Amino acid sequence: MKSILVTGGAGYIGSHTVVELQAAGYGVVIVDNLENSNPAVLERIENISGIPPVFVKADIRDADALAAVFSQHSIDAVIHFAGLKAVGESVEQPLRYYDNNVHGTMVLCQAMADAGVFKLVFSSSATVYGPDAPVPYEESMPLGQPSSPYGASKAMAERVLADLCVSDSRWAVAALRYFNPIGAHSSGLIGEDPLGIPNNLMPFISRVAVGKLAELSIFGGDYETPDGTCVRDYLHVVDLAVGHCRSLLSLEKPGLHAFNLGTGQGVSVLDMVKAFESVTEQRVPYKIAQRRSGDLPAFWANADKAKHELNWVAGSSLEQMMADTWRWQSGNPDGYGGE
Ligand code: NAD
Ligand code: WQD
Repeated sequence: MKSILVTGGAGYIGSHTVVELQAAGYGVVIVDNLENSNPAVLERIENISGIPPVFVKADIRDADALAAVFSQHSIDAVIHFAGLKAVGESVEQPLRYYDNNVHGTMVLCQAMADAGVFKLVFSSSATVYGPDAPVPYEESMPLGQPSSPYGASKAMAERVLADLCVSDSRWAVAALRYFNPIGAHSSGLIGEDPLGIPNNLMPFISRVAVGKLAELSIFGGDYETPDGTCVRDYLHVVDLAVGHCRSLLSLEKPGLHAFNLGTGQGVSVLDMVKAFESVTEQRVPYKIAQRRSGDLPAFWANADKAKHELNWVAGSSLEQMMADTWRWQSGNPDGYGGE
C-alpha cells in the first residue's frame, strides 16, 4: 500500500482528501499543527472510513519534526495543504503568511529531498493568475501579480517548486489551482468550520441560515456582471478531494504541472443565495453592501487540462453542493466545537 503524507490534513480540504485517499486504498499520515482546525475531525474521518488516520501534531516549519515523520513512515508522496488562507488577514500580517506559505513549503521540500521523496501535490489557488488575467483562466497563462500577500505567497511557492523541478529531474510536482471549494462530505460528519466570522461566502450563508449570523452582506451589486454581483467558479470539496487522488497518478512525469480545478462555470453571489434557499427551504436575509476591496468582478476556470490529463471533472451540481453544505451546517451548528 502506498502512503501519502498529508500536511494540513485536519483542515477543510485536507480532511475530505484524507477520506478519498483512504477509500482509494492509500495509507495516510497527517501532519497538522491544528492552528486552524479541530482534532475532533480525526474521529469523524475514522467514522466515515473505518480507518484511523495516523496523526502527528507538528508544524511544517519544524525540520526535525518532519525528519522524524519521514524516518518513521515510508512515504511515497506528499499532498501539501498546510498554510494560511485568509486574504484580508494576509494584508495585515504579511510576514506570518510568507513565513508559513513560502518558508513552510521550502522546509517541507528540503525534508522531502533529505528523505528521498520527490513527489508533491501543492495546494495552489486561482488567485495566482492575478487581477489582469482574462477569463476563463488557463494554465498556459503566466503567473500574475496577485494583489494580496496570500495570493503572492501561493505564486511564490509555485515559483520555488518550478525552480526545484529545474534543478533536479527527480522532482514531480502537481500545482493544483483551486477555484472556490464549497460543500461537505455527504455523511454530514465533516465540513468547513471557520473560526469566528467567516470570510468566505458559503459558510457565511449557511451560518445565517442556521441562525448564528443575522444577515448576509453581498459585497457589491453594481459590477459589470449579469445581475451586478460577483461571479465565481464554485466546486464541490469532494470533487476537489478526488482531484488530488487523480493528480497523484500524474506524478510519474517529472517537472511542475499546473492544473485548474474548477467546474468551468461562473455563478453569481445572488444565484448562490437563491440556489441555497431553494434547495434547503431556508431563508437567507441579505443586503447589498459596499464592494470588498480587492474582489475581482468575475473569474472561472477553463478546466479542460484536468479533464484530459487527469481524467477529472468537478461533476457535482450546485444543488448537491448546497444540500451537502446544509446537512453539515444544520447537523453541526457549532461545527466541531459542538462536541
Ligand atoms: P484550512 O485552514 O481548513 O486547512 C489548512 C490546515 O493547515 C489547517 O488544519 C491548519 O491547522 C494547518 N496548518 C496551517 N499552518 C500549518 C503549519 N505551519 N504546519 C502544520 N499545519 C498547518 O484551509 P483549507 O481551506 O483546507 O485550505 C487548504 C489549502 O488549500 C491551503 O493551503 C489554502 O491556501 C489552499 N486553498 C484553499 C482554498 C479555499 O477556498 N479553501 C482555495 C484555494 C487554495
Ligand atoms: C466569493 C464571492 C465576495 C462573503 C477567496 C480567495 C481565494 C480562494 C477562495 C484561497 C465574492 C462575495 C463573500 C460575504 C459576499 N482562497 N461575498 N459576502 O473572494 O472568490 O476567493 O477564497 O485560495 O484565493 O481570494 O471567495 O468566498 O470570499 O467570496 O458577497 O460575506 O462572495 O465578494 O464575490 P473569493 P469568497
